[in-house]
Amino acid sequence: MSLQLRTAAANNKSSGLRHLLAALTFFCLFSLATRLSAQIAYTPDWPSLDARPIPAWYADAKFGIFVHWGVYSVPAFGPTGGDDIYVKYAEWYWKRWQEGQPAFAKHHAETYGPTVTYPDFARDFTAGNWDPDAWAKLFKQAGAQYVVLTSKHHDGFALWPSAQAWNWNAAELGPNADVCGVLAKAVRDEGLRMGYYYSLYEWFNPLYLDSVPAYVEQHMLPQLYDLVNRYEPDVVWTDGEWEYPSETWRAPEFLAWLYNESPVKSKVVVNDRWGKETRGKHGGYYTTEYGLVHDGKADETLEARPWEECRGIGGSFGYNKQETLEHYSTSEELVHTLIDVVSRGGNLLLNVGPTADGRIPVIMEQRLTDIGTWLARNGEAIYGTRAAGVVSNDERVRFTRKGDRMYAILTAWPEDGKLTLPNLGDYKWREARLLGRDTVLAADKKRTAITLPPLEPDLGQWAWVVELR
Ligand code: GLC
Repeated sequence: MSLQLRTAAANNKSSGLRHLLAALTFFCLFSLATRLSAQIAYTPDWPSLDARPIPAWYADAKFGIFVHWGVYSVPAFGPTGGDDIYVKYAEWYWKRWQEGQPAFAKHHAETYGPTVTYPDFARDFTAGNWDPDAWAKLFKQAGAQYVVLTSKHHDGFALWPSAQAWNWNAAELGPNADVCGVLAKAVRDEGLRMGYYYSLYEWFNPLYLDSVPAYVEQHMLPQLYDLVNRYEPDVVWTDGEWEYPSETWRAPEFLAWLYNESPVKSKVVVNDRWGKETRGKHGGYYTTEYGLVHDGKADETLEARPWEECRGIGGSFGYNKQETLEHYSTSEELVHTLIDVVSRGGNLLLNVGPTADGRIPVIMEQRLTDIGTWLARNGEAIYGTRAAGVVSNDERVRFTRKGDRMYAILTAWPEDGKLTLPNLGDYKWREARLLGRDTVLAADKKRTAITLPPLEPDLGQWAWVVELR
């Protein structure tokens, strides 16, 4: 063998060795990394818990349905006027009546008299006309991607066979059914995600009134673990957190379990109501309610995380029989609310309040169906989008963005038939089209004025989308 050949052979051998070594090192490092990452656990403190990325399905979903249904659906009463948004909530009936709020006290005295108690209402919470599949179909038709049901509101009545609420749940009283489980099945069969609202505090639970730590240990935490293990929710939507800090509720401990070990650790999404100090600051996504955070101020910190606005179609979450057409938002208003929220990077969780016998009031059904009609045509500008970071001087035009596309959503058809674009920053586009039409729209030289086609009935109502790409 010539010297050259021998050197080449030796080189080959040593490069083979080197490859082997490199592969071995890579393998060792890789298995170490996987082992480490399996061990990297969220610890029960806010800096660690807040660092968990919110599963992407949530910010893509954009539109969910909130359902407030319970014993309060029997009296279904709340005052309809006034500036205090919270006093209109019919689901607060027990508390408002007990504290002597004039409208509730008067209504109770005149309608039921002093001998009828709130727990007496449970037997009339019959769910006799409840068709869970029809609810789920309606939510799907509305274009919603997820549903959040009140598993337990502040009155403590559980909509599932909770061992902790042994004398006060829907399997033993009223519906005689596992409402949480039955609805989850129907909703998932329609391809939607299922979540639960859960009130941390209970107004009149003797254990809560006697010892909060005992209540948390023996009642609240077991219920939360039970809900998660039984129904594997996509959303855990807590509330009623404001009387105590998150530490008292042992919320960080629960969340560390939820994120590290629970059966839903990779998909579950939670909100920010985990203690009196947490709203808009800690947890998963931030929440607003009728546009406000709990202290009654509008929230300015929203952009920091995914967030969600929740509200009723009327002024209450629980069904309120006192409400008439004038108290309900129109379909146009609701579509505009959805657009406004989504253009600011949020989700809308729109509430329905079913009746005690399980019907979704026709007016609510109609509003949901209308939103669904609009979304079927224009959903491309909503689902999976993010705030475009573009603000138009014209309030009536909102922007969303998805990949290389930008959507200008017009909540009014411009009188001059032109869409005027604001400064789009770095964003460049080649073509503009109106959703529902194939033709490329003409623009002026500066590309700031786009000429729209004639507005024809098949384009639908309430809002129209120009897609830029
Ligand atoms: C609240 C209320 C309530 C309603 C809710 C929805 O803070 O107490 O009745 O369930 O939040 O956001």
